[in-house]
Amino acid sequence: MAIVRPYQPSDRDTVLGLAHRLTIGVAPWRDKEAVEEAVTGWIRDAIGGDGGGVLVAVVDDRVVGLVTVGERRHFAGEVDAYVGELVVDGGSEGRGIGTLLMAAAEQWGRERGLRHLTLETGAANRHAREFYAARGYQEEDVRLTKAL
Ligand SMILES: CC(C)(COP(=O)(O)OP(=O)(O)OC[C@H]1O[C@@H](n2cnc3c(N)ncnc32)[C@H](O)[C@@H]1OP(=O)(O)O)[C@@H](O)C(=O)NCCC(=O)NCCS
Repeated sequence: MAIVRPYQPSDRDTVLGLAHRLTIGVAPWRDKEAVEEAVTGWIRDAIGGDGGGVLVAVVDDRVVGLVTVGERRHFAGEVDAYVGELVVDGGSEGRGIGTLLMAAAEQWGRERGLRHLTLETGAANRHAREFYAARGYQEEDVRLTKAL
């Protein structure tokens, strides 16, 4: 049975070890090493704050997933809840842990009176896109790229 709790400093190595999974679905034309470095940096920055918006999923005393959630202002002015990173350990996928972490992030937003939760994911990350769509997330913006 998984539980979700706030990040603690003793989780540091384990959550940094999950970072590489955030490279899934990044466009193939981006520099792989730079992407690896960036995703680790995202997690390092998130846990380097006060940890308030970093939640971990724990199964049998083992951290198997992470979600970071904060606030972001939409250009129309509304402040949304914003999920920066969601990641579940490869060996623990498909057991409801991602769902549990997103429910916790949604609750985080509701508790602050926020009306929407937004996030971004790679267009090629088919699994994540299906996962979010099945949980009520609608496409709002699409970023287009052309090689020059
Ligand atoms: C996207 C992700 C967070 C989902 O986490 P999860 O713990 O597998 O999620 P859940 O178990 O709650 O749901 C996974 C869905 O895939 C299905 N599934 C079944 N077997 C599966 C398997 N072996 N592996 C993955 N998903 C499986 C589940 O039944 C569920 O389907 P549903 O949407 O119809 O309910 C996880 O795959 C992940 O960490 N991916 C890499 C990082 C990433 O892409 N993050 C999101 C973008 S920022």
